[in-house]
Amino acid sequence: MSNRTFTIVKPDSVRKGNFGKIISRLESEGFQILGLKKTSLSQKQAQGFYAVHRERPFFSGLVEYMTSGPVYVAALQRDNAVAHLRKVMGATDPAKADAGTIRKEFGESIEQNAIHGSDSDENAKIEISFFFAESELL
Ligand code: RTP
Ligand code: MG
Repeated sequence: MSNRTFTIVKPDSVRKGNFGKIISRLESEGFQILGLKKTSLSQKQAQGFYAVHRERPFFSGLVEYMTSGPVYVAALQRDNAVAHLRKVMGATDPAKADAGTIRKEFGESIEQNAIHGSDSDENAKIEISFFFAESELL
């Protein structure tokens, strides 16, 4: 099991000034921040990042949302990283997320749900390399 995962603090969180609170929560969960940058996803990057959803009805809305403002991308490390981040994030739909999860606290809707987290070790590796060179991870 890999000890790395990848997160995006999504545009709604950045717009509302919740980046600091979310990153602080991740640190308090024991995640080390190996790499962190503020960036703006291009149309192509957002489409590529969520390519697995390209046939879904929500795809164009998702791409529009993810390109609607700056985001923070981060590579994170702790034991059981992928599963632990998914647990701390909560369900995709904030209305269905458990109390105390990031999406419950900060998410607006099933689309504007505050944060992304990798769903497998394999995807974590791919997603980290989408944004970071290995030499940038400290
Ligand atoms: P993520 O990939 O962002 O961590 O979210 P997830 O695994 O919990 O959910 P996923 O099924 O991978 O969906 C990716 C993102 O698409 C948006 N979405 N909108 N309108 C809708 O019904 C809908 N469903 C999903 C959300 O932003 C979701 O996080
Ligand atoms: Mg997903």
